Parts: sequence; C-alpha cells; structure tokens
Amino acid sequence: MDTTPPRWLRRTASTSAPGLAFGADYNPEQWPRATWDEDVAAMRAAGVTIVSVGIFAWARLQPTADTWTFEWLDDVMDLLHANGIAVDLATATASPPPWLTAAHPEILPVTVRGETMWPGGRQHWRPTSPVFRRYALALVAAIANRYAGHPALAAWHVSNELGCHNVYDYSDDAAHAFRGWLRQRYHRLDRLNDAWGTSFWSQRYSDWAEILPPRLAAAHPNPTQQLDFKRFSSDALKEHLRAERDLLRTITPDVPITTNFMVMGETNAMDYADWAGEVDFVANDHYLEPGPGGLSELLFSANLTGMLAQGRPWFLMEHATGAVNWRPVNVPKRDGELLRDALAHVAHGADAVCFFQWRQSAAGAEKYHSAMLPHAGLDSDLFRRVVDLGATLRALAPVAGARRRPAEVAILFDWVSWWASEQDSHPTSLLRYRSEALDWYRALQRAGVRADVVPSSTPLDGYPVVVAPILHVVPAALTDRLARYVASGGHLVTTYFSGIVDENDHIIPGGYPGGLRALLGLRVDEFGPLPDGATVALDNGTEGSLWTDRIDGLADDTGILARYTTGEYAGRAAITRRPVGRGSATYVSTRLGPDGLRPVLDITLAAADVHSGLPAAARGRVEHTVRQAGDEEFWFLVNLTDEPVDIDGIDGAMLVPPHGPAVLAPRGVAVIQRAADHSGHGKPDPVRPVSRQASG
Ligand code: GAL
Repeated sequence: MDTTPPRWLRRTASTSAPGLAFGADYNPEQWPRATWDEDVAAMRAAGVTIVSVGIFAWARLQPTADTWTFEWLDDVMDLLHANGIAVDLATATASPPPWLTAAHPEILPVTVRGETMWPGGRQHWRPTSPVFRRYALALVAAIANRYAGHPALAAWHVSNELGCHNVYDYSDDAAHAFRGWLRQRYHRLDRLNDAWGTSFWSQRYSDWAEILPPRLAAAHPNPTQQLDFKRFSSDALKEHLRAERDLLRTITPDVPITTNFMVMGETNAMDYADWAGEVDFVANDHYLEPGPGGLSELLFSANLTGMLAQGRPWFLMEHATGAVNWRPVNVPKRDGELLRDALAHVAHGADAVCFFQWRQSAAGAEKYHSAMLPHAGLDSDLFRRVVDLGATLRALAPVAGARRRPAEVAILFDWVSWWASEQDSHPTSLLRYRSEALDWYRALQRAGVRADVVPSSTPLDGYPVVVAPILHVVPAALTDRLARYVASGGHLVTTYFSGIVDENDHIIPGGYPGGLRALLGLRVDEFGPLPDGATVALDNGTEGSLWTDRIDGLADDTGILARYTTGEYAGRAAITRRPVGRGSATYVSTRLGPDGLRPVLDITLAAADVHSGLPAAARGRVEHTVRQAGDEEFWFLVNLTDEPVDIDGIDGAMLVPPHGPAVLAPRGVAVIQRAADHSGHGKPDPVRPVSRQASG
C-alpha cells in the first residue's frame, strides 16, 4: 500500500508531515486586491491549509474567445504559496462566460418541456455539447499548462458539482448522444425494442433516428426509456469528467484529480458508485438538513462517501459554517453544530474539512450564504468558532491517513434501485428509497451498532448482516450473489418493493418479490400501498405505513416474525424469516420507521452475534465510528442528542476535547486514541475500563 500522504494532506506546502486539511472555496475575483492580503492573514490565523480557487473564474481568465488574463491568478497562487496555503485549483469550466453563450447558444441545456436554460445563473451547458466540450478543454489545457509547475498546486478540481443544475438535458445534442449510448448498450434495434417493451402503447422503433430523450409526453413515458435516460445522463457527465481528467493527466501526471460529488439528501442523478473509480481521491459536498433528522442524514452521507472512497481518506470539499441561501427558510447552525458537523465527516474518513466559502460574498445570489469569514468580519463569534475548529483539526493530525474500520453490518445502497423504485406509474408515488435506507441507519444507530453504507457492488463476505432496503432492481447476478451470501452464513434483511424487476425494469414473473422469492421463501400476490397518513398495526407492537403486501405463499421453512393485526391483510404475515443453514433471509413488508425496525433488527443481530461496542449509557445516543492506522485506532463518538451523554468506560487517550471529561457535551464529539484491536473484520469492540490520559 502506498503510504505517501496525498499532496492535499500536507500540513503546509513546505512540509510533508500529514495533517487534516482545512479551508474553503476561495473566490478572490469577487474582491479588490487589497482584500486578498487581509484574506491570507486571516486564513493563517484560522489555520487554513488549502483553498479551492478559480471555480467560477472562467470569464475572468478568458474575457473573450481570444484573450487570456492569467496575471491575477498568478498573483493569487503566489500569495497563497508564500503564506503556506496549498491550492486545489479548479479547471474553471463550471460556468461558461457570456461571450461563449452569445456566440454559441447551442450549448445551452433544454428542459423536459423544451425550454432553454438561459445564461444568468450558472452551469448552463449541455453535458453532451461538442462545442462546449471544445471550449472547456481549451480552458483546461491553458490552466494546466500555466500552473503545471506551480508549487501551490496540490490537486485539480474538475468543474464543480457536475450535474447540480444541468444533469437532465433534453436537447438535440442529448438526443444524438443518447442514441449513440443506446447503440453501445443494445447494438441492435430489436434488442432495444425488447428491453424497452415497445410493443406496449405502439412504441416500436424502426430506426435509431426515431428515438428521443423522454421529453414531455402526453402520458407516462416509457419506464425503461426513462431508466436508460437516467443511466445515460449520469454517464454523459462522467464522460465530461473523464475528458477533463485525461487532459489534465497528460499535462500534470503527478497532480491528483478530483471533482466534488453531492452525496446528500435526495440528490440522486449521478451514480457515484460508478464515478468513484474515475477520480484520484473522492471529494464530497454536504449541507446539513435543518431539523431533527439532519445529523443522521449527514452521518449517512458521510458514511456512504467513505465507502465510495473504499475506506481511504476523502475530501470534504464544501459544507457550511452556518445558514445556506437556497432553502425556503435558511436557519443558522445552532451552538456546537459547526464543530460537530465538521468532525462528523472526519469520523467517517474525511481528511480535509472545507467550506463554501472563505469570505462571504457582498454581491450575487449567495450573499446571504454563510462563510468562514462572515460579513461581520474577524471580530465575530462565527469567525472565532472557525478558528477553534482549525485548532481542533490540528490536534487531530494523528488521524490523517487513518482508514475507516469496517463495520459488521452493511446497508446496501443502489442507485439504479433508487431511480427505478421512484419512477412514475407505480403502486405509490409516496415511496422514497433513501428514506427507507435512512430508517435502517437510524435503527442501527439507536442499537449502538456501527454500519457501513455500501454500494451494491461491494463484496459482502465480511459482513455478518446485510440490510438491502428497497432493492428493487435485481439483475440475475445480484440475486445469485445474495443467495450465495446467505448460503454461506450471511444474514440478509430486505424490504417491500425489493426483487421486483430486472435491469430493464421488467417484472420478474411468478409473484413478488420476483428475483428474491426463492431466497426469502415467500410469495406476494398483490401490493397493498397505504394512503398518505394511513397505518396498520403489527402483532409485535409496531406500526407500518406506506406499504403492505398480501403475502400468500410461504415456504415450509419460512417463519413469521410478525403479522398484521389491522387493515386488509390482518392475520397475514408482515415480517418473515427463512433460516438457511447458519444464515437467514428476512423480509419486511411495510415501512416501520427507525423504532419499529428494532425488533426485527434485534433478532437479526442476535442471530449473527453482532453486538454494540459501546457502553450501555452511550448506546443510541452517539454515532460510533473507528479509524485505524497501524497499531492505533481512533474512536469517534458523535453526540446525536442535545443532551450530555455519559461515555465513561471507554479506554484510551482523549484527543478531542483535550483532557475531556467522561461526559460528552450536548452536540459534542469525542475522539479517543486507543491501541488498535486487530481481532479481525469488525469484531465487537471490547469495552474496557476507563483510564483516560490527557493527550499531549
Ligand atoms: C454548492 C456549490 C457552491 C455553492 C454552494 C452553496 O452547490 O458547489 O458553489 O453554490 O452550493 O451552498
């Protein structure tokens, strides 16, 4: 394994000692030259080690098609370097300048309704436009050649949040590229016709040229056409990423390349499991959802990002010190949340903690978005909290480079199932794939059991328990893999609307859950989705919502864990479990929510001999993660509550808070350095008597 720290992890440009990187997007082009000196002085005061520069600077770098003005950026790069601050340099292609869209309006994206997305905002470019690609690559080449040898250059930042505003483009360029993509997938038109089920509603194609993106239609567009368009749209942006990356690699083969993902909330158009292998290191942006579920959502996203990075350190490219500007109501962070949220990402493997943005804008659409240096200036509570965070991250330098220690439970996360399960013309439009996955994550948190949120292609052998919520699309290879997993002693739990269709979104016939019917040992004859707000009772004391199933056929060896006691299916099975050798396959036919999932989770965890590694008082009140480097490991305990939590009983040296007490503050995070437990993949973490030493 290569143990050299990546460039962005060097504590300063002049040292190779690793530490956690700290910084922000830096947009000096919004400010006069004199402000830059104030900026770098304040960055030094805060302990900033790296900034992302040039993200929206295309118009300033290339003011006309034939003019280049790099001098100001030279100055910025030199200034940052002179102050020991490294640069994650953007390729600046995120937002095309007015001269380009005026000369080439054909690069502008088109909505599903055929409306043009005009300039005036940002990211107004078609992912498949050859014209845009040509201009973008010319810019990339110019920047890369100019700064190839610059000592501040630590990483390349391709574009910005690819797909944030322009992922679904229905233009003629998109139509052309979609056809090309389909030809590669199906080779022959009859195969496409079969896959898309075009005998339905007289949709049979006789020529590739007849095929269009799923533009606004008179009735539900063909579901497989929609699903393929989602696959294609993710691929089209991935192609753009690759084009910039490949060019950068020819010019600066030694500079690592990334692009900032958006593993957060309901953003789902980019299949990041498929993208993760395209970058030299994974970077993510995350914005806390206000309200009680926000922290769990953050932790879930950070967890998945860490698994996309395959346990290696990743880069938190953006989050917020306070309020954002793009929700209906933008509330600031509450006391303690700035530090907590930053460390919650570190807990899941982030080795860089960066914000949008360094200095809060005075003009433009984001002037009410928080930043590290707010409108109020240096003498502000927010800036003091930023400085504190910088100091905390310095104390956590030993964590840099430590890998995430795998958990014993995996939650399978599958982008194609996410897309397909939420398409239109389904039994219910209320189903939310990610909400069900989050419920399981929260249920495991409440049990005090660590879980990994893993892409569905992840090898499962190391996990005694695998939860696969709404695993809707099950190609034969996935079905086989799950069957082998259970046959070799694994405990699989899955839910309603799983196993239903193949990769073409065709029903797997013979009764639901199609591809998983044999493994689960049951047959569902009819779905019974519930109206919004309706619930049904189960005889294990829990309550279901959203969905029920009419389970008709149960295999001889399938047991019933709970039955419905109310509703149309009262008396019928609601949760089943089929033992298979030392393993088992469990099915949950309704939405139970985090608390309702506990009984079935407890049965599964007990069967798999998986236990919480936490002292009883902390279980369910903290998120527990472990990062490991050689003979040392770091326990992160993130307080999930607004109350103090007793964490007494955990052996080790407290890194954060220094000389910390045995009680975790409300919204607090503790980081404890301990001797590594080498007892194997995710074995229960032994709780040892307390002996807390102060760390130096
Ligand atoms: C991100 C974007 C940043 C900034 C930020 C505000 O989507 O990458 O440039 O707009 O949101 O929250």
